[in-house]
Amino acid sequence: KEKVFSGVQPSGIPTIGNYIGAMKGFIDLQDSYDAIYSIVNQHAITVPQDPKILKQMTRQLAALYLAIGIDTKKAILFVQSDVPAHAQMAWIIQCMTGLGELERMTQFKDKARKQEAVNAGLLAYPTLMVGDIVLYDANFVPVGDDQKQHLELTRNFVDRFNSRYNDDLLVKPEPLIPEEGGRIMSLQDPTSKMSKSDTNTKSFVSMLDTPKQITKKIKSAVTDSIGEVNYDKENQPAVANLLQIYASFSGKSIDSIVSDYSGQGYGNFKGDLADLVVSTLEPIQERYESLLTSSDLDDILQDGAKRASAIAESTLSRVEKTIGLTY
Ligand code: TYM
Repeated sequence: KEKVFSGVQPSGIPTIGNYIGAMKGFIDLQDSYDAIYSIVNQHAITVPQDPKILKQMTRQLAALYLAIGIDTKKAILFVQSDVPAHAQMAWIIQCMTGLGELERMTQFKDKARKQEAVNAGLLAYPTLMVGDIVLYDANFVPVGDDQKQHLELTRNFVDRFNSRYNDDLLVKPEPLIPEEGGRIMSLQDPTSKMSKSDTNTKSFVSMLDTPKQITKKIKSAVTDSIGEVNYDKENQPAVANLLQIYASFSGKSIDSIVSDYSGQGYGNFKGDLADLVVSTLEPIQERYESLLTSSDLDDILQDGAKRASAIAESTLSRVEKTIGLTY
């Protein structure tokens, strides 16, 4: 079976952007692939985190993964810091990656601009991600559009490594990016990406928002003065974004949604979208609540760590032997 790997940072509660762009796809993939999903807490500390909140978010994200339908009979779910091979592999990758390559990463440039002091981890971040992927011989990596560049870096690294040492030592992964919904935008500004760490909470719907919050945020989402539901990314980017969310949550095509609302303003469209998001998230939130406090969650993560470690350690030792970290 081919392998799938992906991760989500516990740097906030996932938004519907994370869900549409990546997490929703994780569920289908676990049926046909050996799927491995991680709560990448070591990635999260590249920017300052409150230890208590980080711990809480890690647990919450684990419960949310299960609540959306990750089934640990099919997939492996684990916390990154439980598997030391990630940090070990990242070090090796850092020693084989040019500074210039890392400085070119747009996510680094964006995040660095927002920080007062930039730490070395923020720059090295993509090498940790390359390690995550290659440790599991992942063939496919389901991610949102913003991770495309990091996947390109991973593919380049694999080419370089394999041509230097041995042609089939590491697997070269393909990104799986949804055609629609790979980049869900802020509800308040259609030119910036929806982000779980945005300080303006009106800009995103979190997977754990209450029905009232969801409705309020969607109804107050910015639109435009054209006043017609059209799918025109250029001239009506905010409405196009809402249409992508609608399409993803309903399973309907964008064209059929546009025709359903033709001749109407934005009121009904937004109201129905709010109801759709609420009714999709409600059962997820119910499962989440019961999982969060159960000791099953700890058992699942312990078991996941064991299974992930076995795979990761074997790849790491193969790499260490190849490059001479042995005697
Ligand atoms: P993170 O935690 O920022 O986001 C998790 C996933 O959600 C996608 N995403 C979005 N998709 C659509 N619209 C948006 N507005 C949006 N915002 C985020 C992200 O692309 C991602 O797929 N570096 C990764 C985590 C990571 C990883 C990995 C992923 C670490 N190691 C190995 C894949 C494989 C990140 O920061 O995701």
